[in-house]
Amino acid sequence: MSVAIELAGVAKRFERAGGAGGDYQALGGIDLTIEEGEFFCLLGPTGCGKSTVLHLVAGFEQASAGSVRVFGEAVEKPDADRGVVFQTELALFPWLTVAENVSFGLRMRGVPAAEQAAILERNLDLVGLPKHRDKFPRELSGGMKQRVQIARALANDPRILLMDEPFGALDAQTRRRMQEEVVRIWSETRKTVIFITHDIGEAIWLADRIGVMTRGPAARIKEIVEVPLKRPRHNMTPEYVELYNALSATIQAEAEAMLND
Ligand SMILES: Nc1ncnc2c1ncn2[C@@H]1O[C@H](COP(=O)(O)OP(=O)(O)OP(=O)(O)O)[C@@H](O)[C@H]1O
Ligand SMILES: [Mg+2]
Repeated sequence: MSVAIELAGVAKRFERAGGAGGDYQALGGIDLTIEEGEFFCLLGPTGCGKSTVLHLVAGFEQASAGSVRVFGEAVEKPDADRGVVFQTELALFPWLTVAENVSFGLRMRGVPAAEQAAILERNLDLVGLPKHRDKFPRELSGGMKQRVQIARALANDPRILLMDEPFGALDAQTRRRMQEEVVRIWSETRKTVIFITHDIGEAIWLADRIGVMTRGPAARIKEIVEVPLKRPRHNMTPEYVELYNALSATIQAEAEAMLND
């Protein structure tokens, strides 16, 4: 197994414009190694810095200290080898249709038209949107927009998938179906995945390992647990419940401490 993603001593300070002070130290020393093909879930209290970690790996932000490496190379900018599904549905291009959004990266890379069309079909099918291909984002529900984002990320066949609470806006049934799809895609393609969620059950259902972050400022990884459950997984087995309760207690402790900070 080779290392896909490596964060060593990563800190991130957001500077207030104008140098007037009030900088915010979001991350303070994150060490994290993710193996190629691993499904890693990141949990943590709201505002702790989960999206920031993802944006550093994606190359949208630069670390203030430490190093972020992907397949051994320092991350300097975004690249098609890292597909991102953003927390906000506003990440779609509003002036492009569903089909144009999904094919955007393919067009940019000059993929031949016939191949583009085949990839588009496959990915629209996957997320259940073939009938909506000619609609614009403003005509879609929140859940549909998230599914377009997922199709757009997958269309580039990235080695690494970075997903920031991708199913937060979905209803329970669609969410379940999308979770199953993501596990299926992952097990077929062995992509390396970082998946952020607030949902402990979702993390246990999906992940090989789960990282729990501390609250900010200067957030760190508080603990990393392996999920010892075989796939396909079932909710409510004793092992599942035990893991759920342990993770829940860890996050609760951080959230309560945050209120007293
Ligand atoms: N561009 C920025 N400039 C200044 N502060 C920022 C910036 N981006 C994030 N922050 C701050 O850094 C902290 C971490 O933000 P981040 O979005 O990573 O949290 P999160 O864990 O993803 O939260 P949530 O669970 O609500 O999505 C927050 O306090 C946020 O206000
Ligand atoms: Mg976030």
